[in-house]
Amino acid sequence: MKALVLTGGKGTRLRPLTYTIPKHLIPVANKPILFYVIDQIREAGITDIGVIVSPDTASYIKEALGDGSAREVKTTYILQSEPLGLAHAVKTGQEFLGDSPFVLFLGDNLIQGGIKDFVAQFNSDGLILLKEVPDPRAFGVCELDTSGRVERLVEKPKVPRTNLAVVGAYIFTPDVHKVIAHLKPSGRGEYEITDAIQGLVDAGKDVRSYILKGWWLDTGKKEDLLEANRVILDESACWKVEGTVDSECSVVGRVEVGKGTSIENSVVRGPVSIAGGCRISNSFIGPFTSIGTGAVIEDSSVEFSVLLDNCRILKVPRLADCVIGRNSQVAGGRSLGGVALLLGDHSKVEL
Ligand code: DAU
Repeated sequence: MKALVLTGGKGTRLRPLTYTIPKHLIPVANKPILFYVIDQIREAGITDIGVIVSPDTASYIKEALGDGSAREVKTTYILQSEPLGLAHAVKTGQEFLGDSPFVLFLGDNLIQGGIKDFVAQFNSDGLILLKEVPDPRAFGVCELDTSGRVERLVEKPKVPRTNLAVVGAYIFTPDVHKVIAHLKPSGRGEYEITDAIQGLVDAGKDVRSYILKGWWLDTGKKEDLLEANRVILDESACWKVEGTVDSECSVVGRVEVGKGTSIENSVVRGPVSIAGGCRISNSFIGPFTSIGTGAVIEDSSVEFSVLLDNCRILKVPRLADCVIGRNSQVAGGRSLGGVALLLGDHSKVEL
């Protein structure tokens, strides 16, 4: 079996951050979202991975993932020149996929526990992953028959008929290519994968579903990204201090501190992930915070936030719920309440 990972699209909901970094490469707990996806595919026993890239994302994604060997997979890059929809992305990858069954995995979806059991379950003409959610209007929504067979799929319905959202991992046989070849664009002008699946069902194919019990996060928005960071730190952060922490510090809970990082006269309360090469002094780093390589934090307080590489946070009394791009600087000095920011790379904020 092969896999096709989608990293095209525009990432509009995370602008300005996504002007300079594809959302798939934004780190969560100091690991790019895309790497979770690739690792989960490998853990399911699939190593031959086609990666759909867009003209905007191609160079970043290729640089981060290379030939895949660092993650023990083999990557083939496929350029989708316009984001014309998920089914169009599959069509773009058809030559790579050949006549192999394949997993289609959206490169911005995080799935608890991965896709191993899902892949092991596959023995039909198609298998889709579903999750019960309170409000599925932002997703594909599925109706099943009594035996769990897919009956009907609607993309982002205003009035959903069930609470079963379509998660961004699917398994197809090559039959799907025949359906996609005859697909028409939807009302929003995209070739929808939901329409392709409906086409399979209408052609009498046996499309099954697998209901995910764990959490699922589609990381398209700032809130989702922070929630992903919270959930992953909560689950996986461990005590691993490789940097230096002076005797004036209080470091409690599950805290990761990378090599070359120094922490002086500060309080760090886990779960927290601090990468290498950072300098933190006279500060409070609160729970559910991830700090990228080379950050400088002085006389400040940061919690529930994601800071990308080389941020400088100086004299800011309280940052919370922030996503801050690379090489950004936030400098304070005056007294303030909490500040919630989404900053692109190279931003500069004075408070
Ligand atoms: O996250 C699950 C949802 O993903 C499903 O419930 C929906 O049925 C499905 O249509 C999709 O909806 P989104 O609106 O979230 O899709 P989005 O446009 O965000 O694209 C998902 C990923 O695919 C994202 O990583 C970008 C990439 N992509 C998107 C398009 C439209 C491509 O690589 N090429 C494209 O043409």
